[in-house]
Amino acid sequence: MIQDGLQDRLTGIKSEAVEKIKSARNEAEVYQIKSLYLGKKSEINGLLSGISGLSIEEKRSIGGAANTLKNEIEAMIGSRISELAGAAGAAGFDPGLPGFLPRMGRLHPLTLVRNEIKSVFAGMGFTVAEGPEVETDYYNFEALNTPKHHPARDMQDTFYVAEDIVLRTHTSPVQIRVMEKQKPPIRVIMPGRVYRHEEISARSYCLFHQVEGLYVDEGVTFGNLKGTLDAFVKALFGPEVRTRFRPSFFPFTEPSAEMDVQCFLCGGQGCPVCKRTGWLEIMGCGMVDPNVFRAVNIDDEKYTGYAFGMGIDRIALLKYGIDEIRLFFENDVRFLEQLNCGRP
Ligand code: DAH
Repeated sequence: MIQDGLQDRLTGIKSEAVEKIKSARNEAEVYQIKSLYLGKKSEINGLLSGISGLSIEEKRSIGGAANTLKNEIEAMIGSRISELAGAAGAAGFDPGLPGFLPRMGRLHPLTLVRNEIKSVFAGMGFTVAEGPEVETDYYNFEALNTPKHHPARDMQDTFYVAEDIVLRTHTSPVQIRVMEKQKPPIRVIMPGRVYRHEEISARSYCLFHQVEGLYVDEGVTFGNLKGTLDAFVKALFGPEVRTRFRPSFFPFTEPSAEMDVQCFLCGGQGCPVCKRTGWLEIMGCGMVDPNVFRAVNIDDEKYTGYAFGMGIDRIALLKYGIDEIRLFFENDVRFLEQLNCGRP
């Protein structure tokens, strides 16, 4: 009987399909099996197209059986797929998935430059100290030989928090705090954030960063200052880079100087960044004024010292060739990634 033969074949297809579906190892294999048994060119469809010679009743019986089998296979496929998904979920990990690189943070260019400055001075025996950003008028000005109404106060536009309280305009007040607590020899650098009430532009911002330095001992000379700062510049910018000192004025140092480095972008030839001078102004410095020693009860007959202060932001702008200081404060990850500053 044709009908019995067909019936047997359907039963055979079913047991083959059950086996195959059970042993499928992933979704893709299950879908292959699905198209094999339920697709247009499946064996089941092939059998159905060959039943035209049968009676209506036989056709109905075989057709019904074939449809039931299709539904069963469909259901088995559905449950195998959820079984596989469950197994992958339970293991928490699908070895078949492609891997991905986790996003890593990067150090901010200001942090990198500060760390570099710190490590150069650490190599020369300097320790690190910090002080408050909200300062009293006394530490920010008075003790640094800058009395009220002294014209030198105009050099630093100041944010006042209250009558005698300011946002520090420089890191120099930390010198005073260190010398109040520690007696010579003192060799310390003091990095930190400072604030000035200046017009915001591509070159200046109301907040920026400085590193202050202080060395106090018996017999410290201006020659020591020049030697140390020259060695610092060579460590930071390269051994061939030259420095020069120009006379300047700061109330807390006497004599005072400004140090320039040979423009490392054009090698001193003159370019737009160094305004065609071949030199870049990098920091203020000088010998600690005896009045400052008196404010902290250090014997100014016995001890001498030098101090210096530099802007980290300016050095970072130059070093990375950035022409917009505000980018440092926007925390745009695209800017930090673009700089390719290296990973922590
Ligand atoms: N505090 C000065 C400024 O912000 C920089 C400076 C100059 C610091 C000379 C010093 C120094 O310690 O000796 O402009």
